[in-house]
This record gives sequence, C-alpha cells and structure tokens, in this order.
Amino acid sequence: MNLVDKDLKYIWHPASQMKDYEDLKPIVIEKGEGLYIYDIDGNRYLDAISSWWCNLFGHSNKRINSAIMNQINKIEHVIFANFSNIPAIELSERLVRITPDRLEKVFFADNGSSAVEVALKMSFHYHQQIGKEKKKRFVGLSDAYHGETLGALSVGDLDRYSKVYKPLMIDTLRVEGPDCYRCPYKKHRDECNSECFEHMDKTLRENHEDISAVIIEPIIQGAAGMKIYSPIYLKKLRVLCDKYDINIIADEIAVGYGRTGKMFACEHAGISPDIMCLSKGLTAGYLPMSVVMTSNKLYNAFYGDYNDGKAFLHSHTYSGNALGCAVALEVLKMFEEDNVIEMINKKALLLNKIVKEELSDNPWIGEIRSIGLINAIELVKDKKNKDPFPHEERIGYEIYKIGLKKGIVLRPIGNVLYFNPPYIIEEDEMREMVRLCKESIKEKINHS
Ligand SMILES: Cc1ncc(COP(=O)(O)O)c(C=O)c1O
Repeated sequence: MNLVDKDLKYIWHPASQMKDYEDLKPIVIEKGEGLYIYDIDGNRYLDAISSWWCNLFGHSNKRINSAIMNQINKIEHVIFANFSNIPAIELSERLVRITPDRLEKVFFADNGSSAVEVALKMSFHYHQQIGKEKKKRFVGLSDAYHGETLGALSVGDLDRYSKVYKPLMIDTLRVEGPDCYRCPYKKHRDECNSECFEHMDKTLRENHEDISAVIIEPIIQGAAGMKIYSPIYLKKLRVLCDKYDINIIADEIAVGYGRTGKMFACEHAGISPDIMCLSKGLTAGYLPMSVVMTSNKLYNAFYGDYNDGKAFLHSHTYSGNALGCAVALEVLKMFEEDNVIEMINKKALLLNKIVKEELSDNPWIGEIRSIGLINAIELVKDKKNKDPFPHEERIGYEIYKIGLKKGIVLRPIGNVLYFNPPYIIEEDEMREMVRLCKESIKEKINHS
C-alpha cells in the first residue's frame, strides 16, 4: 500500500470533510526549506499561509534546528509542577519584558485552544476569589474564533465549527463586532471612530455585574476572513473594562509575534490586556506550545495556603516543555538581534504594493485589506454591492485546488484568500506568490 492510501486508511485529518479527499488526496510532505515544502513526488509548494499562520522564519530553519539540537542533548522535558527548566525561565523573563505593562506572570499550556481555556478559567476564578461571584459570564464578538475546545468554541462565533455543539457550550454574551468592509455606519476607515463600539458599550453597561471577561482577537479577526478593525475599538474597550472591573483577554495567538507589524497587536492601540494568549509564532511553527500571561493583580488573588482552595490547579502534561521553550527563546533572540519588526514593516509595504498592482482590477476581488505581513483578498460575486459568493459554491476551495497544481498553498477562509507568508520571504518570492494566486483565480474565472 502506498503512503497516500495508508494515510487515508489510518488518519482522520483536521478541519476536513474526509470525503473531499476522494478527489483531492492528502499531499505527503517529505521536507521543507525556507518558504517551500516538497512532497514525496518531488513537487514543490510555496507556503503562502505559513502552515496555518505559525511558521515565521521558514521551514527547517538552521538556527532554530540547532537550538533544538542543543536542548535535546540536555533535557527534553521535565514535570513542570515544582520543577522548572532553564529555557522556560529565560523565556518567561523575556516575555514579561517585551509584552504590555500589566503582564507579569507566564502560565504555560500546549496549544492555542488550551491557552484560551486557561484564560477563561483564570478570569472566572479570579472574580470568585475576590468575592465578585456574580461575575461568571464572558463576552465575545460576532465572527470571533478562539479555537475548538468547548470553552474556546463557546466564546467563538463561527457556526461552521460550533453549531452542532451548542447544547454543550457555555452561554456567552455575543456582541456585534466591527465589519469595516461592509460598515453599517458607512464610514471610511480614515473617519472611523469605532462607532460600532456602541454594541459593546450597551452590553457592558447593562450586564457588567455578571461579566468576568471580554475576549477579543486584537486588530484582526483572522478566521472570520482577516477582518481588520480600528485600534480605537480597543482603546474604548480598555476604558470601559477598567471602569467595570472586567478583564480583557487578548487572544494574540494568530496576530502576536510581529504579524501585524508590531510585536503584539495590542500595541497598535497602546493598551494592555489583563490576560494575553500566545501560541503559533511563539515557537515559529516548530512545536506545540502556548502561554497565558497575566498581571500580578490576578496572580496575587490565587496566592495563599494550599488548604484555602485558592490555587489555580490547571495543568497539562507538557506544560513548560523544555524543547518548546528552547525554540521560543531562540525565536525571541532572533527578533531582537535581527531587527525582525523593522524588516516586517519594510517587506509589508512591498508585498502590499505588489498585491495591489497585480490584483486590484480583478473583477472578483471586492477588497484587498492588509496590515503587516497579512494581505487578504475578499472574493465577491458583485463588486459594487459587495455581494458574497454563496458558500456552497466553494469558490475559495476551488481556487485552492488550482493553486496546489501550480505549486502554491493558499488555503482560503471561505471566499477570502490571503497571503500570510513566513517573514523570510524576499521580493522574487512575493512576486511568484502573487502571480500564482492571480493565475489560479484567473483559471477559475475562465472556467466559470
Ligand atoms: C485567534 C485564534 N485563537 C485560537 C486559536 C486556536 O489555536 P490552536 O489551533 O493551536 O488550538 C487559533 C487558531 O487558528 C486562532 O487563530
């Protein structure tokens, strides 16, 4: 039996209708180098989405590889309760130094969704500890995505992932969030004062006694289709949450680590959340790890004698994994030594220019939106009225399949195509990436 048949015999792939694999077989990757991955038949694919937005410095990066090798010869993993390890300590010190002001303690988990679970529990438990027992509820934005475990699904709002599980989910207060492309206030980005914050304002004013935390993806709602919104929204949120003793949980899992042109997306608004979740870029796409950072104010509420029952007893076997921490530490050193943020901002200007030059006049492209090294393209049926293509037509998925034949991994979100390339991308590769995407869209248009 060949590898593809064996894969289909034994593996249930994520985020997939397995029947689709009858037509599009799993692509078995043998190696990666820089921006490219190579399958067992020698085909090459440009990884335009950084393998689900996590690979920052290319595949099989020599510097990160040797950080792993160095660590593996010392200690791979050790229980993290009552024990610690050197890279975890050094990493935590650095994280506290570079993250917004309030964040002074680091709690380790092992993937993005788990980090969100930790954040929700931490916030809820905090309010229980300080005698505000009524504060039990969470607020999430429309179209939010925070992962797939039950708590994370509950605060998210994408029906395609959560609808069937509704009977199992926590009842969350849902607030209509920003929608800048189809702004109901008809405001241009330049004159926006986040008028849409009125929905959040109303919900918090009316329910603040019951609310423990508001969870948000700062500046850009990724899985919603890379919906970018104004930092003013976050500023207003900070003011109101301070007023009502509501925690802000910033889910920076997708946007942290330079993706938006700042180390953390909250920096665009100059705000500090009470809790921040990081994953993906944390280990540059190498190892599953996440951290939840919080303030001393929250941390101190859990501090006491064991028998007080105050402790936060959450744990994961792989908390503080030494290999993950060694990689994460090396990643932060790279950011510092190689002026990565400056490099991202230079490359961001160039990539956005190329994307606009090549794709603006395409009849199917309603909007090109960009921030940092994210460029998203929303495909619409009718450009003038911004009418979306019906989901059943799976236009994005069809373009993705064409792209694969041409040697590019696009993996759209519905009908939103996007470029989230590794930061090592150079001009030639940007041009190749945009050209392959352009040709894929054109081929789909020609066959429609
Ligand atoms: C904003 C956000 N939060 C949480 C998650 C969940 O992370 P994970 O897939 O590691 O569980 C994701 C994943 O894409 C995400 O984009």
